[in-house]
Amino acid sequence: MHTAGRIEEVRNQLTELAQTVPSSQELMPAMVKVLHERMLEYNWVGFYLLEPGAQPPMLVLGAFEGAMTPHPRIPLNQGICGAAASSSLTVVVDDVNQDPRYLACSLETKSEIVVPVFVRGKVVGELDIDSHFAAAFTSEHQELVQHCARLVGKKFETDGQ
Ligand code: SME
Repeated sequence: MHTAGRIEEVRNQLTELAQTVPSSQELMPAMVKVLHERMLEYNWVGFYLLEPGAQPPMLVLGAFEGAMTPHPRIPLNQGICGAAASSSLTVVVDDVNQDPRYLACSLETKSEIVVPVFVRGKVVGELDIDSHFAAAFTSEHQELVQHCARLVGKKFETDGQ
């Protein structure tokens, strides 16, 4: 199927999923599974969450699909992951081998996107996706991944209600 159609379909599927699961803790593993299965160029998909109260702040690996990463804990001054969480901005890297911040997870990874997850305006974690294809995360993909991060942020906000 044409990429735009597939993105739209997956976007709708995930919006519906967020409405049906009871909490953020159930949404995150289900979401990474859908993204990994349906978006064939998303070769590693996972959440990192800020460890509550940790000083200095630390990103800790949460739900993920793909090979186990050698980086289950990432301080905010390291990696593309640290850059996204500390700046509160989406970071897209078209060629990870040209980015000195990059922490390698798999030798096959060529491009990466990291989108912060906000709860009441504050970063609580992020959604990280690696691709074996260079420059995989075009603006349409960025929009999808940002939509996913927003769904999770909103779910965190309604947890326990
Ligand atoms: N590449 C990330 C590390 C996490 S792994 O890709 C799963 C980074 O540079 O922060």
